[in-house]
Amino acid sequence: MQVFNPPLSILQEEVLKGLKQYPKQLHPKWFYDDKGSQLFNQITTLPEYYLTRAEKEILTTYHSEITSLIQPNASLIELGCGNEEKIKLLLSSLRWGNRYVPVDISQKALNETVTKLRLSFPLLDIIPIQADYTQAFSFLGNNLVEPKIVLFLGSTIGNFEERDREVFLKKLAKYLNPQDGLLIGIDLIKSTKVVEDAYNDSQGITAAFNKNMLHHLNRELQTNFQVEHFKHHAFYNHKQNRIEMHLVNMKLHNVTIGNETISILPDETIHTENSYKFDFDEFEQMLHKVGLCMRKIWMDQQRNFALTYIKKI
Ligand code: AVJ
Repeated sequence: MQVFNPPLSILQEEVLKGLKQYPKQLHPKWFYDDKGSQLFNQITTLPEYYLTRAEKEILTTYHSEITSLIQPNASLIELGCGNEEKIKLLLSSLRWGNRYVPVDISQKALNETVTKLRLSFPLLDIIPIQADYTQAFSFLGNNLVEPKIVLFLGSTIGNFEERDREVFLKKLAKYLNPQDGLLIGIDLIKSTKVVEDAYNDSQGITAAFNKNMLHHLNRELQTNFQVEHFKHHAFYNHKQNRIEMHLVNMKLHNVTIGNETISILPDETIHTENSYKFDFDEFEQMLHKVGLCMRKIWMDQQRNFALTYIKKI
C-alpha cells in the first residue's frame, strides 16, 4: 500500500493554529481514526441519516447509465472511500482492464475495505492509497494516459469552505484530461428538520463521533482534552446553508499541545465540522469558475441527494 502522510509536526501546527482562533476550530479530517471510521459507518445506517441511503438508491437505480460512462480501460479513483458499501454497486459492472484506486486517511478502514473487495472481485486490479487527499493528490498522476473517473461521494465536498472548495476543485481539474470524468455526490438543500435530525440522531452515534475527535487528538498528538466535559451540538445555519457541528466545553480546563498551553473556557465551543448543502445553480456556477461543467445529474426519488457527472469545459 502506498502511504502519503504529512509529518506529525505539521499536523500539530495546524491543530494549534485552529485552537488559537476564535471560535476555536478543528478540521473534520480528525474524525477519522479507526474508531471514528467505524462510528461513521454506523452513522450511514442510522434511520435519520438519509444521505448514504439516498446515494445508494441513485447508484442502484441509475447503475447502467452511470457505469456506461466508465471506459473499458479507465481507472476509478475514489477520494475518501470509507467502506465498500457504495463502490461495490458500481464495481460489479467493471471489466478486466479497469482499475480501482481507493484513497482514505484511515489505514484500518482502507485495509478492511480492500480485503472485502478483493474477495468479491478477485480479478479487479485494486491499488489502495493511504493519504490525506486535502494535502496532496500527486497520486492522481497528471501524465496517466488511461482515462480516469474520480469519485468524490457522500457529499464530502460539503466539508470545504467555499474558497477551499474552489481551490480543491481547481487543483483536481488540473489532473483531468478531456476524456476524464468526475462523479461528485452532493446533499441538497431541504427541510431544516430533516437535516438537523440527521446530525442529532436519537442513539447518540453522531455525538460519539464528534467527541471521538478529541480522543483521536489526545492519542495522536498527546493533548489532554477532557472529553467527558464536552457536549455535542449540531444545528442548521440558514444563512450559509450548512450544518455546523460543535463541541461545547462545560468545564474550564487547559490543554497542552507541544510546548504550548491553551485554556478552554466554560461554554466555549470548538467548531468541528461544516456540512454544506447545495442547490444546482450555485454548484454549477462554482464549477464554471474552475473550468468544469456538469454533464448529468441523478437524484433519489425524494430529491434529497444528487450525484453529478462533471467534465472539463
Ligand atoms: C462524510 C462529511 C459527508 O457531513 O454528513 C456525518 C460526515 N458528520 N455526520 C456529513 C458526518 C456528521 C459527513 N460527510
